[in-house]
Amino acid sequence: MTEIPPFQQLLTMTDLLVPAAVRAAATLGIADHVAAGATTADEIARRAGSAPDVTDMLLRYLVDIALLDRDVNGGYALTALAEPLRSDHPQSVRAMLRNDGMFGSSGLSLLRLDHTVRTGRPGYVAEFGRDYWDAVNNDPAFVAEWREQGEAADRMDLHWDAGIVVTGYDWSGVGSFVDVGGHLGNLTLALVRAHSHLRGTLLDLRNVSAEAGRRFARSEVADRCTAVEGSFLDPLPEGHDVYLLSAILADWSDDDATLILKRCAEAAGATGKVLVADIAMPVGGAGSELRLRSMMPAPTRTAEDIERLAGAAGLRLSWRGPDTAVRTLLEFVGQ
Ligand SMILES: C[S@@+](CC[C@H](N)C(=O)[O-])C[C@H]1O[C@@H](n2cnc3c(N)ncnc32)[C@H](O)[C@@H]1O
Repeated sequence: MTEIPPFQQLLTMTDLLVPAAVRAAATLGIADHVAAGATTADEIARRAGSAPDVTDMLLRYLVDIALLDRDVNGGYALTALAEPLRSDHPQSVRAMLRNDGMFGSSGLSLLRLDHTVRTGRPGYVAEFGRDYWDAVNNDPAFVAEWREQGEAADRMDLHWDAGIVVTGYDWSGVGSFVDVGGHLGNLTLALVRAHSHLRGTLLDLRNVSAEAGRRFARSEVADRCTAVEGSFLDPLPEGHDVYLLSAILADWSDDDATLILKRCAEAAGATGKVLVADIAMPVGGAGSELRLRSMMPAPTRTAEDIERLAGAAGLRLSWRGPDTAVRTLLEFVGQ
């Protein structure tokens, strides 16, 4: 057997055409159009709003890579491999692959891995001009995807050992808390459900806080949960007993993490507490580390590292709770 020369192997390994073609198909909804009865290039292009001649090239290429079959009359049909590209498939991957989607677009940050390796900063920012959370929160195109996430969250349990925030801290003397960067409200809801005296205010950026507010409104604890739009890089609502940072600092550089802690310290004042429930996600080797770093700063920190940043933000450790493999629970008060 003739060996493939290394230069040829390298060119094959790095060819972007297959991923680009599959992503183009996902973005344009080709599988949905074919499943809905469009079988010719012209009709598929008409439904996709795409250029007919290049659509024809894409469809012929999708035949080459076994995503489409072509019958004797030239009509296209999905192969079994292409079925999960349909939006309504039970294992649909379309949202993960669309270049214009919230999740699909994030994968494109890997194209700027050179930037991440050179500077240590996320390729996402280099590719899209703003950080991941800013982009996914402020683009109206992603509202529908957040809504789906909110509905899915209604059916999910807490993850990354967030249960220790609910059961591993003494909430008995706490009247109200702010879930700073509370995302879709899973933890706010779990806390107020488990502790009937508690009131929670979730603060997050636009799209996420709007969806969290919708979830709260349809919950049975709507009278004790509020969602507000805001940035934790700006001053926070004052006067609450606990400012909770769950799985927040791990997305931010030391400078930004210190600013976030400072904002919590300012709002907590002399009597409030800052409860940091940070996570160190287990990553599965160099590949997943690079994937994560291309999207976010994603530093790995020990409890002592967090204590050092909190000190720089004017906070001192007042209590340390149970650790799990992925999460620490640290309570701070003003110095
Ligand atoms: C990893 S999630 C953490 C979610 C949640 N606290 C938990 O424990 O699951 C990070 C959250 O921070 C929010 N976020 C990012 N930047 C923010 C900012 N500047 N101000 C407020 N929230 C922000 C994101 O929208 C997202 O909901």
